[in-house]
Amino acid sequence: MRILVTGGAGYIGATAVAMLLEAGYDVTVLDDLSTGHSDVIPTEAKFVKGSLLSNQDLDEALTGCDAVMHFAAKSLVGESVEKPDLYAEVNVGGSKALFSKMKAHGIKKIVLSSTAATYGEPKRVPISENDEPAPKNPYGATKLEIDRMVATSGFSAISLRYFNVAGALQSANGWLAERHNPETHLIPNILKATNDAPVKIFGTDWPTEDGTCIRDYIHVVDLIEAHIKALETLPEAKHEIINLGSGDGYSVRQVIAAAEKAVGHKIPAIESERRAGDPAILIADITKAKSYLNWQPNRGIDQMVLDTWNSIK
Ligand SMILES: NC(=O)c1ccc[n+]([C@@H]2O[C@H](COP(=O)([O-])OP(=O)(O)OC[C@H]3O[C@@H](n4cnc5c(N)ncnc54)[C@H](O)[C@@H]3O)[C@@H](O)[C@H]2O)c1
Repeated sequence: MRILVTGGAGYIGATAVAMLLEAGYDVTVLDDLSTGHSDVIPTEAKFVKGSLLSNQDLDEALTGCDAVMHFAAKSLVGESVEKPDLYAEVNVGGSKALFSKMKAHGIKKIVLSSTAATYGEPKRVPISENDEPAPKNPYGATKLEIDRMVATSGFSAISLRYFNVAGALQSANGWLAERHNPETHLIPNILKATNDAPVKIFGTDWPTEDGTCIRDYIHVVDLIEAHIKALETLPEAKHEIINLGSGDGYSVRQVIAAAEKAVGHKIPAIESERRAGDPAILIADITKAKSYLNWQPNRGIDQMVLDTWNSIK
């Protein structure tokens, strides 16, 4: 069975490529390398350097495929506020083109990346798939639009709504880890902090035990295990939305403490003002992921930090 992995040169997509190959699938990667890196694509995968926005590239990539894992997207919240049209074009327009070409190629199976950003400010935690989505930025809005498009597509489809993905995979070709530029994610930024460029703690007066924001982190390997289970349990001509997190929350200070344990020294950090639009606590309700996918996360925050550290040190 051949899987098209869109965005397979990116952080999460590359991990999916490695784990799909390991599980015995054939893989084609479609990636325009706008934020991805060609050196993570294994030689066993067929690589189409191209865009979701090109019908020709989509035709070439979809040829011979049986199912799609769709990771390719623009995914920076701040950038989406500055460039909402780009996010609409790539995320919504690119997904629409992909779905249309899948139909032309007779491919009906898809697992796709959604995000906790579709929920916006939660009315309760943990957040369930039944909670009303109310995205607070163009990134979350475009991802919600994709979920709505796929829901009416007639495909056998699962949207996986990730919370904060972290950690790294040591593959046959070396570490697969976050190499975003700019890096907006907490764990790599903590591990790269120096006295000259300390990590910023945005707000220490949140209504949480230690005053810093709480987020739900999921190891990228647990995340991709769930994708493979989703691929293998796709509902017939139906769309499901499933949260993926660990179901636990860690404060910024707790993540820094885990990082200090991994690196063996104090992490330079400075306290700064709250960021506008940050909710105090985001934790996933993962009851549906556990029951529907027969899956559970196995790697905790210490492992996420340690693997990230080993990938960059
Ligand atoms: N990293 C997280 O914590 C997180 C959380 C929730 C959801 N997500 C979603 O997971 C997916 C992957 O995220 P990531 O962190 O690996 O990001 P990433 O930027 O590392 O990977 C995205 C990949 O898509 C490619 N791409 C972008 N536009 C393209 C286009 N038009 N055509 C072809 N390829 C294109 C990029 O070159 C890149 O390789 C995204 O859809 C993102 O919204 C990520």
